[in-house]
Amino acid sequence: MTAEKKILCIGAGYVGGPTMAMIAFKSPRSRVTVVDINPERIAAWNSSDLPIYEPGLDKLVAATRGRNLFFSTDIKAGIQENDIIFVSVNTPTKTFGHGAGMAADLQHWEKTARQILEYSESSKIVIEKSTLPVKTALAMERILNSRENGVRFDVLSNPEFLAEGTAIRDLEQPDRILIGSRETPGGLKARETLVEIYAEWVPREKIITSNIWSSELSKLVANAFLAQRISSINAISALCEKTEADVTEVAYAVGMDSRIGSRFLNASVGFGGSCFAKDILNLVYLCRHYGLDEVADYWESVVHINRYQQERFIRNMLGAMFNTLAGKKICLWGFAFKANTGDTRESPAIFIARRLLEEQARIVVSDPKALANARADLAGVEGQISFIEDPVQAAEGCHAIAILTEWDIYRDIDFRQIFRVMTQPAFLFDGRNILDHRRCFSIGFNVYPIGKPPLTHF
Ligand code: NAD
Ligand code: UGA
Repeated sequence: MTAEKKILCIGAGYVGGPTMAMIAFKSPRSRVTVVDINPERIAAWNSSDLPIYEPGLDKLVAATRGRNLFFSTDIKAGIQENDIIFVSVNTPTKTFGHGAGMAADLQHWEKTARQILEYSESSKIVIEKSTLPVKTALAMERILNSRENGVRFDVLSNPEFLAEGTAIRDLEQPDRILIGSRETPGGLKARETLVEIYAEWVPREKIITSNIWSSELSKLVANAFLAQRISSINAISALCEKTEADVTEVAYAVGMDSRIGSRFLNASVGFGGSCFAKDILNLVYLCRHYGLDEVADYWESVVHINRYQQERFIRNMLGAMFNTLAGKKICLWGFAFKANTGDTRESPAIFIARRLLEEQARIVVSDPKALANARADLAGVEGQISFIEDPVQAAEGCHAIAILTEWDIYRDIDFRQIFRVMTQPAFLFDGRNILDHRRCFSIGFNVYPIGKPPLTHF
């Protein structure tokens, strides 16, 4: 069968893999190939042990791989054989030179643009799937159209809004699909081609189109708004701890206002993940670049509050445990940046673990899916660290448990048994507010939630 659409995705990561699996699944007449420079990653995509953990992903891949979904390291053939190219490479924060710590590092993205130019023998639609600074499409167009050989490139922006842990549901039932294009005949035609792909399963009214710069900027703004809500409620959690208000009750009362809405108001040890901090810093950098210092300061404060919240968590632990953690054994329940993923990028757990080790505590790291990544994150960090997957075993002999990821398994644990195996007095620091605090207190724990009065036996 000849494929109706021949689609390539460059970058087989958390976005490229699941997104292309969904397109292949929903568009069986298309042929989808995903390529990457990392051969181990591609080998894992071709194995039964996929490189990322995402609920429902294995089923989707099993239904499509080898049928109309293919994973390969042959980037050259991929570019030559396909007409529609998604670029989904990583765009981390720059760590060197001008803009270090703020701007997006566009080296992977630019390398991809140059590869597309080098290998293309026919016209292509090139789609920015990665999150990029506004105006990146202009640079992409300039690189791609730098040769006069009759090969034509139309660049679209199609940012991805999936969240890890719910990626498959988000891809299957997205709130919206955003496609930005140039308003030229070529741009509009390319846009229609991409609309057709999504229209295989997404209702038309949810596929929105815009000018290309609005599309690029909307992605940064969406993440900034989401992170801002978390920093807002986390800032209020600090005030709650001083005033005996309860942040969950405050969030509930505030979120009942339909203009505000109830989601993304869970106070926590801070947000993590590969994108929130990176994308806000990128926004801040752009604002400063355009001389908008007040706007930059406003958004930068979202990141400052997030770091403050993590440091505050450590200070609360120190204060509660008699101002010394040296030699104490502290169990970290959860290392992933959120539940239902093994991803630990920018996880608050990394910061907390390092700070506890600086205080000369001994730490035991436990997580159902993220221990391999946790090991890599803490490799070379000085101090006593052990890794135990089973949370009950991990808590044995510990002075405290700090809950850093909201995994469901922690809600259903037998806390009486945990209490018996811990060193007394036993402390629970609930960095996600997921436990029944009164119950744990009645068992004997000293309980320190976020943004609520502590329950202590002293
Ligand atoms: P990732 O690091 O998991 O995957 C990126 C992949 O690109 C890697 O496997 C890397 O080897 C590959 N790559 C880099 N340069 C390459 C090249 N020249 N040729 C071929 N492959 C190359 O990153 P990710 O989490 O999938 O994120 C990708 C983009 O999507 C980022 O811009 C991110 O901001 C954005 N995004 C991520 C998420 C998320 O939940 N992770 C959600 C929405 C948007
Ligand atoms: C986020 C956005 O939700 C996605 O729309 C976006 O596509 C993605 O970033 C991206 O661009 O990478 P993700 O980081 O995977 O998705 O996960 P979220 O559910 O947004 O959680 C981010 C962090 O905020 C986690 O550490 C989570 O625990 C924390 N969080 C979330 C809170 O502390 N409180 C909340 O109420 C919600």
